[in-house]
Amino acid sequence: MMPACDHIIFCLSQPSLSAKDASAALAALRLAASRHDCPSQAIRLEGAGVSLVEALRAAERSGARAVRVQPVGFPMAANILAWLPGALAHWQQSEAPAMQVWLGGQPDPAALLPAMVDACLDHAAPARAAKPSLGKPGWQYLPDHDSHILVCTGPRCAFRGAGTLTARLKAMLAEAGLSDRCLTTTTGCLYPCNQGPLVAIYPRNHWYVLPDEEALRALVHEVIGKAGDLPQYRLAERPRRQVAS
Ligand code: FES
Repeated sequence: MMPACDHIIFCLSQPSLSAKDASAALAALRLAASRHDCPSQAIRLEGAGVSLVEALRAAERSGARAVRVQPVGFPMAANILAWLPGALAHWQQSEAPAMQVWLGGQPDPAALLPAMVDACLDHAAPARAAKPSLGKPGWQYLPDHDSHILVCTGPRCAFRGAGTLTARLKAMLAEAGLSDRCLTTTTGCLYPCNQGPLVAIYPRNHWYVLPDEEALRALVHEVIGKAGDLPQYRLAERPRRQVAS
């Protein structure tokens, strides 16, 4: 039975959506949410935009006392569903002990699949109508860059505010005239999730935790612009295991 909640946060989980598709998916979620007689928000669990923590805080500020977090994905990844209960309990106990937080359930994907297949079979386009191509001519060469920045936008880093990191990073690089020197790529989980949000910079293999705008600005100007280092934000490497010779 659905618990009595006074706020719902719909969380779309699909890491590889383009900005355009993410916007369309969130609009569809908002439309679906509007059919429920309850204030709601629609966010992405991964990628740019409002993070789950920001949405929870907004719900609390609005006076909500019982919030349902409803993951939406097809299917939802098992590792995300395994992580979410602990992450929500952590937030609730550390930031809003008086608030109830519920985690919404999931449908059985096997039960939904037949309807999806039927909907897909309603549409088709002739492949011969498209121009034959396996790629664009410009996709022949390595992009010019000195540094490759991997920005983790996995769910745990997104929970800690990585959602807008990539957009801010790209904007700051552009403002500093450094865009052409860096290849910036968003990734899924890079593993040191407890320290997120984080970036990894190659070929130096230096990893930095970026908790706020100040850290991001320092990274752009000191690490990228001057090829320097920021020891205060740098993640320590674990001692490597000795390999028997
Ligand atoms: S989600 Fe970013 S390191 Fe795991």
